[in-house]
Amino acid sequence: MKKIRFLNLGKHPITNSFLSKINSKKEFFYNLRLVYHQDTKLISLDSFVPPKKMFNDKYAHRASASITMSEAYKNLAKKIKKKFRPKSILEIGSNDGVFIKHFSKIKNIGVEPCRNLANVTTKMKIKTYDKFWTMYLSKKILKKHGRFDIIYSANTISHIHNLNETFKAIENSLTSQGVFILEDPSLLKSLQKISYDQFYDEHAYVFSITALKNITKKTNLEIFNIEELKTHGGSNRVFFKKKNNKEIKVSKIVNKHLSNEKKFGINKLKTYQIFAKKVKDSKKKLIKIFQKLKKRNNKIIGYGATYKSSTVLNFCQIDKNYISYFVDTTPTKAGKFTPGTHIPIKSYNGISDDVDYAFLGAWNFKDEIFKKEKKFRRRGGKFITHVPYPRII
Ligand code: TYD
Repeated sequence: MKKIRFLNLGKHPITNSFLSKINSKKEFFYNLRLVYHQDTKLISLDSFVPPKKMFNDKYAHRASASITMSEAYKNLAKKIKKKFRPKSILEIGSNDGVFIKHFSKIKNIGVEPCRNLANVTTKMKIKTYDKFWTMYLSKKILKKHGRFDIIYSANTISHIHNLNETFKAIENSLTSQGVFILEDPSLLKSLQKISYDQFYDEHAYVFSITALKNITKKTNLEIFNIEELKTHGGSNRVFFKKKNNKEIKVSKIVNKHLSNEKKFGINKLKTYQIFAKKVKDSKKKLIKIFQKLKKRNNKIIGYGATYKSSTVLNFCQIDKNYISYFVDTTPTKAGKFTPGTHIPIKSYNGISDDVDYAFLGAWNFKDEIFKKEKKFRRRGGKFITHVPYPRII
């Protein structure tokens, strides 16, 4: 399988390793380089970071932390119950139970390798396997619980390195009428928004529909529907059924996505080389903005210490000399320092009066944040963003 490198984003720390104290010598860094796979059109990191370095009992991300996301998962659960009437559901990457907890009346099983999170759902009386999703685990679950009508996985499959094994294990674990629902950031949206921050250690892949189709070709799984979502700045919810299940029809939307991607050039190396050039321009412009504001002695903070922002800050080398501190609503991030750039993180308590600018780490929640920060904006406070191009808003 030939892969061609098209972008080097430099040295990066583990995005999830928020530091309790700064000890630069101990910090682990890896090379963040992106490649294009010629035969499957898949976009991935050139070399992967060992999973145990990323997903362990210190994992900080809590899916329930955002009101927007909690509501979205609740509504999705309602929709799935109504549409598919499942008798059983398995979630791969169940995090803190934000989604699976809505299925307490049927057989609901979670798979979550981060023990601190698996403990949360176990306490909710949801049987949770604190293991990585592998063929071995899927066989164990199959033996104990049987097959599932729905397998759901949001922002997880793109984290798993061995895709062939992953899809094969899903195929084996689905009932004949079963549906697998995958949700992950959209490659097309990332390219259109120059949001190179979609790439970091955990995101081994950013999927296009084209690549998903190609990599599942040899399985008995087939895409039958796609929904576009706003999550993570643009995601796809992709519905798979078994190929021999003729009761579910393949929606026209699938071919529409494939032809849109083709038009954009998803299957051409040139597209990624152009993207790489735009990313380098974006870096130059963002640094200029920070330098200009710093020269004027403006006070700049970060808003939302996201994983995405780790890519931006480490790539652009924007550190504590530019950003005084981050505010973030996630309790486990408060009191720590951002990986690589060592910016202190404070628990969110509004934006203080002495702040002039806030860098939107959580740009994917821009609308929610702008609504919340009316006072800051009214008194002349401004946000800095890099998506789709670096600017002050
Ligand atoms: P997330 O969207 O999951 O991005 P990533 O996957 O790149 O980490 O994270 C959003 C982060 O932003 C999370 O730590 C919570 C924080 N946040 C705030 O601090 N305030 C807010 O108003 C919102 C919406 C998010």
